[in-house]
Amino acid sequence: MDRIRIVGGNQLRGEIPISGAKNAALPLMIASLLTKDPLVLENVPRLADVKQLERILENHGVDIAVHGRRPGSDRMDGQRMTFHAADIADTTAPYELVSTMRASFWVIGPLLARAHEARVSLPGGCAIGTRPVDLFLFGLKALGAEIEIDEGYVVARAPAGGLVGATVSFPKVSVGATHTIMMAATLAHGTTVIENAAQEPEITNVAECLVAMGARISGIGTRTLTIEGVSELHGATVEVIPDRIETGTFAMAAAMTGGDVLLRNARPEHLQAALDVLGRSGVHLTPEANGLRVRRNGNGILPTDVETQPFPGFPTDLQAQFMALMTMSQGTSTIRETIFENRYMHVAELARFGADIRVDGQVATVTGVSQLKGAQVMATDLRASVSLVIAGLAAKGETTVNRIYHLDRGFERLEEKLSRCGADIERVSG
Ligand code: UD1
Repeated sequence: MDRIRIVGGNQLRGEIPISGAKNAALPLMIASLLTKDPLVLENVPRLADVKQLERILENHGVDIAVHGRRPGSDRMDGQRMTFHAADIADTTAPYELVSTMRASFWVIGPLLARAHEARVSLPGGCAIGTRPVDLFLFGLKALGAEIEIDEGYVVARAPAGGLVGATVSFPKVSVGATHTIMMAATLAHGTTVIENAAQEPEITNVAECLVAMGARISGIGTRTLTIEGVSELHGATVEVIPDRIETGTFAMAAAMTGGDVLLRNARPEHLQAALDVLGRSGVHLTPEANGLRVRRNGNGILPTDVETQPFPGFPTDLQAQFMALMTMSQGTSTIRETIFENRYMHVAELARFGADIRVDGQVATVTGVSQLKGAQVMATDLRASVSLVIAGLAAKGETTVNRIYHLDRGFERLEEKLSRCGADIERVSG
């Protein structure tokens, strides 16, 4: 099993290209199921989760082609890919394929909308809480679907003439349920109103893709989406937005090591809440024409409190990385995780570096130490794993991060991007 070896202490200096967002690429790929025409996606990151979703889509009959990068682009840039679902060959998404990645459950929306039936295994994914699917089922039922659970599968059927538009008022904000109901509603009869919709930039990326495919959606980027169903969608070419979680992660790595890094392609408006928090902790952030510059020169890290919230709040996907940064602050900070109930598995691993963290329910209290020390640690989920990498970059001595397959699910060329900026980091096989 591959490991990552880091010798900490080097400041990060230079430029890091930000990849296409995993959390946008996955639902954009799924949107290809809605049309018999090809959907072309630009800037798709090469990640294990993308490859896994390719397998799932191929099983449904989607032809997938990789065309390489745009002329003149860096070899770190994403690829152009075509997804062509001329026919839906199979409406079952089997357990073996769905169980490793929760987002694959989202195929249920487009399958039901286009093929009027779907049989999708209950999902897996990162072990960061129970992560139920009740909101998906609530929304699909509102659109007229009949649903039963059969041997670990959700079996859904649309009414004879297809799904029917309705008002779906979510009791809780869910990114996945918003993507799924929005996609399903594009081909429903009549108008669907999604209230309390997620507003994440990835939802906007997908909504704009659907509009480019002929969908009628208003309220994009707000809490209320109105979708007027159309009889069919057509092909389009759409670019995956830069990954705001990768951006925030590298910003925290630069802050932690005291470096000066340009995050190329970063879109600051997609992570303003996180940048505000970093600013309060003493990090200098300067938007530039081609990205975002992050600097911390000499000054210490100030303790800063944070609470995770749906967008536009501070993202739960940056909570572990921010906690790593706070382990070296000059005081005590509190972090409140409000989205997932079991998202503190990195705490025990950060403690191996000498971090001082106490957890009580939703709240972690972090008291900064003057120096972390390198350690043997284990990756437990995607975002937690990268918090261990950035702690290792700042720690004195050698760190080994085990079980890094979690990292490969969501971070493209992590070691290469960091070592180009002066980090002493390598992947060790076997
Ligand atoms: C997406 C992101 C993930 C991020 C999360 C929150 C992708 C591929 N993944 O995950 O990286 O951490 O948003 O920003 O985009 N919930 C229910 N019932 C449901 C669905 C969700 O109770 O049917 C709960 C979840 O358990 C959680 C909360 O709602 O407590 C938010 O989850 P949700 O927004 O659905 O997260 P994901 O879409 O799975």
